[in-house]
Amino acid sequence: MMTRRQALKTTALASAACATTTTLRTAIAQPTPGPTPAAAATGPFTLPPLPYAYDALEPHIDALTMQIHHDKHHAAYVANLNKAVAGFPELGKKPVEDLVRDLNAVPDKIRTAVRNQGGGHYNHTLFWQMMKKGGGGQPSGELLKGVERRFGSFTVFKDELTKAALGQFGSGWAWLVLDANRQLGIEPAPNQDSPISQNKQPLLGVDVWEHAYYLKYQNRRPEYVAAFFQVVDWDFVSERYKQASS
Ligand SMILES: [Fe+2]
Repeated sequence: MMTRRQALKTTALASAACATTTTLRTAIAQPTPGPTPAAAATGPFTLPPLPYAYDALEPHIDALTMQIHHDKHHAAYVANLNKAVAGFPELGKKPVEDLVRDLNAVPDKIRTAVRNQGGGHYNHTLFWQMMKKGGGGQPSGELLKGVERRFGSFTVFKDELTKAALGQFGSGWAWLVLDANRQLGIEPAPNQDSPISQNKQPLLGVDVWEHAYYLKYQNRRPEYVAAFFQVVDWDFVSERYKQASS
């Protein structure tokens, strides 16, 4: 019998491979033993539950940061996205992934709001799943082979992603992506911009907004990024790579 987490991953990967029919939003709308999320604003988009307890990533990422990050920050992206699409019922029927992938299809009036708030919702929905208790280490199998082909070694890749995360001025993300030519790459992104808006599949992302680390690490972003690597769920990332490259 498939476990809840296996089910989560299987469904999420189906979304990556066939995003027009399946969404990450639905992928994580599963029963969870995790904390109860903050109530989202009324609207078509909902805050997915955190797929583990607030303190699951301790000591690397602290429970209070996780609680505020998920229950307040992610919830705010969802609420503001709902406000943005109010009056555009057709947009509310689309998965957030589709909205963010094709921002040109969004009316001018709300495009920036969808880019920021929809991007925040989409990015964070992925982010929670890219980490797990007992994570870290390095990938194996095809992803490791792909990383070694592209970067020379896992160590070089890790250094490159870290460099992108530390070099992102102000708020944003650093992503490992698979581009349209199925090539791995590293993409820094400001604010809540998502690689998927550039037709690149996000495989792994590190959130370098201060809200992701300031309570524990204050201005020490390098320590936070190093801690992030201790909780990466490489199984999840590997499955995304497998689906996106097939
Ligand atoms: Fe964040």
